[in-house]
Amino acid sequence: MRLITFLAAGLLAASAAADEGAAEYREHTMEAVGGHMQAMVDIIRQKVPHTSHMSLHANALADLAGIAPTLFPAGSEGGDALPEIWSNPQDFAERLTAFEEAAAGLKVAVDSGEPIGPAFQKVGQSCKGCHDNYRAE
Ligand code: HEC
Repeated sequence: MRLITFLAAGLLAASAAADEGAAEYREHTMEAVGGHMQAMVDIIRQKVPHTSHMSLHANALADLAGIAPTLFPAGSEGGDALPEIWSNPQDFAERLTAFEEAAAGLKVAVDSGEPIGPAFQKVGQSCKGCHDNYRAE
């Protein structure tokens, strides 16, 4: 009996550490998302002449949007992630899909050489659509 209690305590400690790791990984990955967005804004506002970098940032953003659904495992509550993420899974999944589709659309627009304004705005709206509902201020 004592052995079982000991093993259970060890498992709980291990899972608590894993959850914290998942929350931190989510924050670091979201910072990368924000970094690529901000870098594109710098280019669009012509603060830097690096128009040739747009494709790299758009590709990275699309890749990051693709892994976004893995950033919210059950039990990784914490940071600025609101509990509604886990209590409204269907609506939350739709926000993730909107993000993925918008980021994929931006990548296509950048690679096509056409004006990217509308596609970029759509990505911005997908960030806001999720943050307004699922991220603490
Ligand atoms: C489907 C939901 C969702 C989408 C879409 C989304 N985010 Fe987030 N974002 C979150 C949540 C939830 C957090 C809080 C994470 C935490 O604190 O654990 C967050 C946190 C962040 C952070 C702060 C990271 C930190 O240091 O804590 C930045 C920056 C960020 N997001 C940028 C963006 C940008 C830019 C976009 C769009 C290109 C975006 N996010 C799209 C849900 C989303």
